[in-house]
Amino acid sequence: MKKFSKIIIAGLALLMIGSFAFAGGGQQKSKVDVGIVLPTKDEPRWVQDETRFLDALKGQANVELLFSQGDSGKEKQNVETLLTKGIKVLIICPHDGTAAAAAAEAAKKEGVTVIAYDRLINDTTAVDYYVTFDSVSVGKAQAQYLVDQLKGKTKAPLYLYAGAASDNNAFLFFQGAWEVLQPLIANGTFVIKNSSEAVALQGKKDLTRAEMAKIIGQISTNWDFNDAKRKAADNLTSASTADKGEVFILAPNDGTARAIADEFAKDTAVTKYYVTGQDAEKASVQYIIDGKQSMTVFKDVRTLVSDAVAMAKDVLAGKTPITTGSYNNGKKDVAAKQTEVVTVDKNNVKAALIDSGYYPASDFTGL
Ligand code: BGC
Repeated sequence: MKKFSKIIIAGLALLMIGSFAFAGGGQQKSKVDVGIVLPTKDEPRWVQDETRFLDALKGQANVELLFSQGDSGKEKQNVETLLTKGIKVLIICPHDGTAAAAAAEAAKKEGVTVIAYDRLINDTTAVDYYVTFDSVSVGKAQAQYLVDQLKGKTKAPLYLYAGAASDNNAFLFFQGAWEVLQPLIANGTFVIKNSSEAVALQGKKDLTRAEMAKIIGQISTNWDFNDAKRKAADNLTSASTADKGEVFILAPNDGTARAIADEFAKDTAVTKYYVTGQDAEKASVQYIIDGKQSMTVFKDVRTLVSDAVAMAKDVLAGKTPITTGSYNNGKKDVAAKQTEVVTVDKNNVKAALIDSGYYPASDFTGL
């Protein structure tokens, strides 16, 4: 009899927990197996990822996706919410790669497999896998594009911009770009116009992370369009007419590229500018068609999403996911699956992004 009443009490307690979950999350009884956390809804890049995740997971109710709105506190809360729903796999793109270690550790403590998505989580052993694009190649492709536009010019004015120092990728992008640009800066083909820290290091090809941090500290856009716009405007105010003319601009991604390009376009002493980007955001695809942005690096989000989903499914099925290499995060070599990137400019924009079926032609004008 005693045992029986214990069972009833336990049953009642479970019912209560169930109804709290229902009242709190509005999630009904559904158990969530895979939780996805993305950094912000305010950048088209991450909305692209959301769309592609929803497409890839159509009809699978055991997944929940939350945005952290550029706030590590909200990100940690998101992870905790998902843990209460019983996730077994967490796919997370951190807002701040170091701050997110705490969220990853909380998940790990619950036995959850943690997959870092696009951005690595630093300085923790709590991250199991990493799905990513080849970010060093992104930077190389941006720099190579600028080099290819030189066409014999020397003493070409170069303006450098970078992503947020809290994002490990910002270092990888810059590292790749610097590898390609540095020899041409050292021999005077390019002349850096907006970073004394970069000038101080221009004789050095392989920069340490601390050296890159010094440069990024000076040229960072924080992945913020307004910061990018302000920085470009300040640089143009400080620059002399001789620092302008035909200029070369390393911009880290599409959102910041558009903001920076708009500032350079307004300056009458700038006769022509070349500006890089990445993400193939729709607004930048239109800018490329219109000749306002020179290039973008296309990162096919569908591949990244399907790699992350396949990895999650393998983990749920008790299988070891396929990886192709590893990235060191300061505490461990994280097994990684990497995807290649494609350079897109006016010449191949239609073939790469529209004819390929990535975007419908009707989203653009002047194709
Ligand atoms: C991503 C880029 C993105 C940037 C800003 C980086 O970590 O790899 O695709 O443009 O963050 O959100």
